[in-house]
Amino acid sequence: MLYFWIGLGICLGLAILAVFLWCQNNVISKTCCIYEKDGADREITLVHLSDLHGKSFGKDNCKLVKEVSALNPDIIAITGDIIHKYTPKDKRVALRLVSELSALCPVVYVAGNHEMRNKGYRFFRRDLKEAGAVVLDDCAQDICGLTLVGLNCASQKNGKINKITPQQTVAGRLKILLAHKPHLCENYKGLGYDLILSGHAHGGQWRIPFTNQGIFAPGQGMFPKLTSGMHTVGESKLIISRGLGNSQCPVRLFNRPEIVLVKIVPKK
Ligand SMILES: [Fe+2]
Repeated sequence: MLYFWIGLGICLGLAILAVFLWCQNNVISKTCCIYEKDGADREITLVHLSDLHGKSFGKDNCKLVKEVSALNPDIIAITGDIIHKYTPKDKRVALRLVSELSALCPVVYVAGNHEMRNKGYRFFRRDLKEAGAVVLDDCAQDICGLTLVGLNCASQKNGKINKITPQQTVAGRLKILLAHKPHLCENYKGLGYDLILSGHAHGGQWRIPFTNQGIFAPGQGMFPKLTSGMHTVGESKLIISRGLGNSQCPVRLFNRPEIVLVKIVPKK
């Protein structure tokens, strides 16, 4: 009888652990960042998504689309690594998601390191455009009363930002940079960006509970500083998404998948 109760206890413990880990990796959390802008004439709701890595929340990402739709966004910004590899499955998931999101509002996208890995990016970029995304591939575009600039992952180090940053924008118009890797943000100081949106760090993969501290991030090593939330970089605010999917580390811990809601409001 004792063995029965021990066996039952172990089974119950494993079941609770399995449910806990499933929730940690599949229940989406939402983070709201408020950005006040001098001279802005209206409130704008921007939804920031990053690092899906081919993951699907429900069939065809229906849960993710529903969560985003409920936020009533004016614009959606995707900051790279929407695929993990150029597999048919990852591409199908990504293109279907972009197509669904594009039905809600304009979707802007910049490539991460996983898209830039090989020449498959050329064709994927074309497919993303056909699915409805505005691909900001080292270029700027005015959308929704915002000036959006996308610096693809391969260009983040080489000074290309100076060539694509618009010299002037309309007074009061927000200038937003999409660039996948947050740890290179020092390169964008003094260029007049109000906001910089990044991902890549996956929140540090595992986070120490109650501390907001991640364990590891590519490009930053152990106990990285730039893995989530809003940071000040010169005159800009850097907003980092903890991302939605996984890369090398297959399990998130105390670091649930994240949608970042950026509310841009006129300064009072
Ligand atoms: Fe990633």
